[in-house]
Amino acid sequence: MRGLFITLEGGDGAGKSTQIRNITRFFEERGLVVVHTREPGGTQISEKLRDILLDKSNSEMSPVTEMLIYAAARAQHVREFVMPALERGEVVICDRFVDSSIAYQAYGRELGSMVAEVNRHATGGLDPDITFWLDIDPEAGRARASKAGDLDRLELEKLDFHYRVYEGYRKIAEADPERVRRVDASRSVDEIRDDIYVHLQRLCEEKGI
Ligand code: TYD
Repeated sequence: MRGLFITLEGGDGAGKSTQIRNITRFFEERGLVVVHTREPGGTQISEKLRDILLDKSNSEMSPVTEMLIYAAARAQHVREFVMPALERGEVVICDRFVDSSIAYQAYGRELGSMVAEVNRHATGGLDPDITFWLDIDPEAGRARASKAGDLDRLELEKLDFHYRVYEGYRKIAEADPERVRRVDASRSVDEIRDDIYVHLQRLCEEKGI
């Protein structure tokens, strides 16, 4: 059996890490092997590209360069890590995937449709089985993220950039409601978890797990 590919999306400070732990517990309790990964990153090459992308001193990076490096990191990650794990039947939980490029580069950087086109090659057509969009107001999310620590190159962008990213996520969720589940991330950690578990339960029933 091919495994399950689950992705989490959302602006800064949406609480993805906590929910990744909850999703892990959900599947481990059902006896499945769960692996975690993240984008940009997840392989040695992709983590090196991540360092370039998030480095605050790379302020001169052009939007197209940025988009292509995210896609390059993804191409390696999909082929070296994600696909082999899915072929072994594992549950792959990935912190961000191609929707991040649509939200941040197509909408945030206003690069438009070329982002989806490039990423079709990067992913080789791999789509998540389910994506949780942890929906949090950009201002509230940013306040949480800056409390948690140092802001990276993308997080340092102005608020209007983050509002465009938010609009991007809204459009992605609207266009693909079967795959993308919007979860109101302004609520408590437990309420968010309960919401996610309902969707996971349904997914398991559909897949006969
Ligand atoms: P990370 O520290 O993983 O962010 P977070 O904790 O918010 O998930 O840093 C990843 C940053 O890269 C984040 O600001 C979103 C951005 N990003 C893109 O702009 N495009 C992409 O395709 C991906 C995967 C991430």
